[in-house]
Amino acid sequence: MSASNKHALTLRLVHWINVPLICLMIWSGILIYWANDIYPGFFPQWFYDAFKIPYRLAEGMALHYLVGWGFVINGLIYLVWFFCSGHWREVLPTPVDLKYALPTVLHDLGLRKKAPPQARFNAVQKLAYTGAIAMGVLVTLSGFAIYKPVQLAWLTSVFGGYEGARFIHFLMTVLLSAFIIVHIVQVVRAGWNNFRAMVAGFEIDEAGRD
Ligand code: HEM
Repeated sequence: MSASNKHALTLRLVHWINVPLICLMIWSGILIYWANDIYPGFFPQWFYDAFKIPYRLAEGMALHYLVGWGFVINGLIYLVWFFCSGHWREVLPTPVDLKYALPTVLHDLGLRKKAPPQARFNAVQKLAYTGAIAMGVLVTLSGFAIYKPVQLAWLTSVFGGYEGARFIHFLMTVLLSAFIIVHIVQVVRAGWNNFRAMVAGFEIDEAGRD
């Protein structure tokens, strides 16, 4: 049995710090959204009641604007490391990855026997992780656009105005939540060794076992 290094310390730190941060952002975002829920039928009344969401706008705003800075700083540390360490080469998809995306999904669903060739991440992982990073950037920029629509009027106009920015902010939250659910299912499917590597940094190589 031997061990090989898999994930850098910086990556593991920002990844695990991000988990409570994003949970708090989604939770406090729902507390704010309740006060003016313009997208009809998205959250039914029983959902608001079950999680005791009504009339907590002030608490939601205070939490959202405090934790938001942590999310921004943590995200910036990740992005600087991502580009400076060369990690982007392992994550950003290439044209070949686009070709392997469908065969990888079919293999994951058990509808294709042979797994397409892959490096550290497979084609679908690369697309999903790149998508998650892009959604993180967009949710942040659209968040600033609706936070300071007067001071940052130029940014708000990039999203087509306040309503457009608010819609993108909401949509990115929904898509990020969907990513997180699928991501956790895939991590459970990949097994303990893969999860432990994201915590401890190394992977146990069972093939080398005596
Ligand atoms: C309890 C929740 C979570 C668990 C158990 C988890 C677990 C993992 C594991 C094991 C990996 C390594 C995958 C591999 O090497 O095959 C990983 C990578 C990754 N996770 Fe998570 N994760 C969680 C939450 C999140 C959240 C909330 C986000 C962002 C919204 C996220 C985004 C990512 C990204 C972007 C990568 C790739 C990082 C890179 O290599 O640059 N994860 N996660």
